Amino acid sequence: MKSIEFIPVCEPFLNGNELKYVTDAVQTGWISSSGKYVKKFEETFAAYCGTQYAVSVCNGTAAVHLALVTLGIQKDDEVIIPNFTMIATALGLCYIGAKPVFIDADPDTWNIDASRIEEKITPKTKAIIPVHIYGNPCDMDKIAAIAHKYNLRIIEDAAESHGALYKGKKAGSISDMGAFSFYANKNLTAGDGGMIVTNSEELYQKCLYYKNLCFPLNAPRNFIHQNIGFNYRMSNLSAAIGLAQVEKADEYREMRIRNFHRYQERLGKIDGISFQKDQDSALNVRWMNGILLDPDIFGRTRDELVYALREKNIDTRLFFTGMHRQPALIDFGCDGASAYPVTENLSKNGFYLPSGSNLKKEQIQYICESIKVLKK
Ligand SMILES: Cc1ncc(COP(=O)(O)O)c(C=O)c1O
Repeated sequence: MKSIEFIPVCEPFLNGNELKYVTDAVQTGWISSSGKYVKKFEETFAAYCGTQYAVSVCNGTAAVHLALVTLGIQKDDEVIIPNFTMIATALGLCYIGAKPVFIDADPDTWNIDASRIEEKITPKTKAIIPVHIYGNPCDMDKIAAIAHKYNLRIIEDAAESHGALYKGKKAGSISDMGAFSFYANKNLTAGDGGMIVTNSEELYQKCLYYKNLCFPLNAPRNFIHQNIGFNYRMSNLSAAIGLAQVEKADEYREMRIRNFHRYQERLGKIDGISFQKDQDSALNVRWMNGILLDPDIFGRTRDELVYALREKNIDTRLFFTGMHRQPALIDFGCDGASAYPVTENLSKNGFYLPSGSNLKKEQIQYICESIKVLKK
């Protein structure tokens, strides 16, 4: 097998009007959050998601936090989140003084196991944050039924799932609010950036208010502030990139999904390797192509395989470490003692392969051949 240039786990793909719009923003001097691209990006993204409103923010972590604030989540409230996620899902709760309550993952979809949610609901529970892990929509009907039964709010953490579909609806648009990230490795990027989508005018207005230091929305600026706000504004430069990306959202989504099919064709029948499973009526947009190893069958541990791939110029990333193993959250009073066997297995044996939108067929071929020869 010929060796090949280093293959990063993900590179942004900026193939549309990015440069044109950013150049325009620079040339016209509109580089902070007041420029026209912010509004255009928000409108275009809302239309893409099928929601009435979208509010841009500076990153996905801020989007989750702002959504919690506007829904009125308060100190000592409890909010259900998946144990297998990126820590940003939990951080907004910590900022507020509310408590993240963990639910183990489903072994097939790797998403929150909706059948385990009810056992963690207490009188203090106020909301659920399902995360569409790696682009795979959660079982939203089941989650919505639980939320309805216990009068809970739902924020979808859709940071990884731009354009994913659940029963024909876009991820992020299915509940009270959806929070997105536009970090450089996401299916759509703005460099850094985030967005909240919602159909509620009230929540939309609150987002606008809190994200901009609680300046009054419809009154002259007298620099008197009634509430504690945040500076979560997105710059016009980021929005210029983001707009160009949304214009090509379907094309980029297809590229990510095509990567998955290429991996699956070549690795799907290898004993000891499994992929994330989709559920019926959902479109997984394959932000990252994760694989889960059974080391006894594959003949190598995950860490051995990752190291050997690195030697072959192939970059990978380990799966998330469960929230119950985060010192920051345990110190915060979260449950680190219960058993979360599915998360443990994912964290120990899972990693993702290069997954950028413009990954070439030959690169995927090389990656898969490299894995095949490493199987014992
Ligand atoms: C599930 C999830 N939520 C939130 C975030 C936070 O997004 P950001 O990095 O834009 O703050 C990420 C980032 O990757 C994420 O994966």
